[in-house]
Amino acid sequence: MSVKRSSPLRVAVLASGRGTNLQAIIDAIESKVLQAQIVAVISNKKEAVALERARKHNLPDVFVDPKPFAGGPDSREAYDHALLEVLEQRQVELVLLAGYMKIVTSVLLNAYANRMMNIHPSLLPSFPGLDVQRKAIDWGCKLAGCTVHFVTEGVDEGPIILQAAVPIQDGDTSETLAARILEQEHKIYPRAVQLFAQGRLKVDGRRVLIEDGKPIGHALISPS
Ligand code: GRF
Repeated sequence: MSVKRSSPLRVAVLASGRGTNLQAIIDAIESKVLQAQIVAVISNKKEAVALERARKHNLPDVFVDPKPFAGGPDSREAYDHALLEVLEQRQVELVLLAGYMKIVTSVLLNAYANRMMNIHPSLLPSFPGLDVQRKAIDWGCKLAGCTVHFVTEGVDEGPIILQAAVPIQDGDTSETLAARILEQEHKIYPRAVQLFAQGRLKVDGRRVLIEDGKPIGHALISPS
């Protein structure tokens, strides 16, 4: 199926927290290294700093309150129907999860299959879930890092688009390591979005191939 892709690409960002990855996407767009436009910043948290960042850059900020949907047997799905309405109204072509602390259901997954990305602060498939910088240190890993992947049903399990590795140093705490990983997140997330905007990502089973102009390349990059 060929997917319609506008130029610039119409992107929505879903965020629950401070929104530094959102900021990296905004900065990449404003400095014209990313050919995309943010048509909605959506949050399940009214006070999310991400929404403030959106307002500061004159981007549409949308708070979708989970409370009216809570309690019912299909409350997650009902919430995602409300999100889907916003996404469809705004003709969103790519959804970016950026610190979005809510499980995404099949309602969104089906509508945005291979068109929804997430950023995660570990080298997947190691350490899905939460508190992953601490886990990498506790395991004695020598390398940590971050991963941009397409979103599928299993948490942090979808096809890997880009990764950046970050050496773990003696004396690292989860905070110092998280800060160095975050710097790399801010590089690879806009890059992954730009590859999508250029139509260069091809999902082949579990793998994402990057069309390079040359023969199809691989998905691991070393950040500069
Ligand atoms: C990042 O570490 C990201 O990898 C994870 O949640 C955090 C969000 O940070 N999914 P921010 O809100 O983008 O600053």
